[in-house]
Amino acid sequence: MIDPIPGFSKLTKEEKIQWLGRTYLAGNTDAENILKQYWNPDSRLQQLHEEFTENTLSNYYLPFGLAPNFLINGERMAIPMAIEESSVIAAASKAAKFWGKHGGFKAEVLGTRKIGQVHFMFNGKKNKLQDFFRKVKPELLEAVEPLTKNMKKRGGGVVNLELRDKTELLGGYHQLHGTFETKDSMGANFINSCLERFAETFKAEAGKYEAFSPSEKEIEIVMSILSNYVPDCLVRAEVSCPVEELADHGMSGEDFAAKFVRAIKIAEAEPYRAVTHNKGIMNGIDAVVLATGNDFRAVEAGIHAYASKDGRYTSLTHADVRNGEFRFWMEIPLALGTVGGLTGLHPLSRIALEILQKPSAEELMKIVAVAGLAQNFAAVRSLITTGIQQGHMKMHLMNILNQLNANSKEKELLVTHFKTHNVSHSAVEEQLDKLRS
Ligand code: MEV
Repeated sequence: MIDPIPGFSKLTKEEKIQWLGRTYLAGNTDAENILKQYWNPDSRLQQLHEEFTENTLSNYYLPFGLAPNFLINGERMAIPMAIEESSVIAAASKAAKFWGKHGGFKAEVLGTRKIGQVHFMFNGKKNKLQDFFRKVKPELLEAVEPLTKNMKKRGGGVVNLELRDKTELLGGYHQLHGTFETKDSMGANFINSCLERFAETFKAEAGKYEAFSPSEKEIEIVMSILSNYVPDCLVRAEVSCPVEELADHGMSGEDFAAKFVRAIKIAEAEPYRAVTHNKGIMNGIDAVVLATGNDFRAVEAGIHAYASKDGRYTSLTHADVRNGEFRFWMEIPLALGTVGGLTGLHPLSRIALEILQKPSAEELMKIVAVAGLAQNFAAVRSLITTGIQQGHMKMHLMNILNQLNANSKEKELLVTHFKTHNVSHSAVEEQLDKLRS
């Protein structure tokens, strides 16, 4: 068993790598070089990356690409995406191109409210707690004034604060349930700071509240934290066109629309399919969220919770045909920022936001939702026509060639060959062997 290492974070980067090499990578003479190969020669840039987090050894690259030709609410946009999956950007671009010729994407923000909670235990008389909350609420709001001053100037702040009785779920459990408006910031630090101030004040004031018995004065604050479930921070994206414009791969527009709607109905009805269907949507969403320096874990958690809001995990997208018109849409919760956090710190997120013409958080919500809808359209379109593997493996060809150490000439010849042949790992291996012999 390996001994624990004390004070690892205090070691220099070089010392950390040495320790790692000795302890876990002995025998891999290349490991140190690989880690160092990704250090940025610009020491300021390297330091910036190291200071994002703790115990940094190297930088982990992802491709940063562009899906052009999106028409969103009448404006032409190119969407930056950070993603490793070979077919995602191509699929987004294809969907953008198609809908660009069929009316474009429409997107609207339906709400921007976020939630944070102070979770606490109180085992006394509930009516006394309610009276106490009514009395102390103005003091709670006053206590966060210094924290909310700047946010208020930008039009945000604490929108509401309620006492919620959760004792049916857990004995003694109550909440201060706060609603916040955080404008162009994602708002996690703002919300958490406000909540911690609420909690401190609430506890201190409870200790002095005369109507409480000694045990009632001992409110136990369990934790204060924002919720990543943001069903009131909601955006809708939609496309529509006459069904005949959907003719594809020898299928009539009517047949395509009917099959497409059926595929969506299956994802609505069947959780196994819904998870994969929604994963395809997240391919688009995460890629833009990541490129713009936003928190993709928060977005993922919130969106999947929303997909099961009615008690069963279901499709995030929906489609129908009415009076000859095909409609395809999605509503998703998205808590995003275009100021604060990594957005202004990471040089590539700054560029991504510049490419998007420096959007407000609401504008970014629309763009991200559109990227998700486009991705889902492209995936379902492939699934119901050619099958997913044809396009996917075409895009994956370069990865296979790299795995097989093909040189540039071999890559060129095989890319040409596979323009007209089905790609599979064994077929590529076979062709490469032929070429080499
Ligand atoms: C692959 O990353 C995403 C898909 O599986 C999505 C879907 O099945 O709808 C193609």
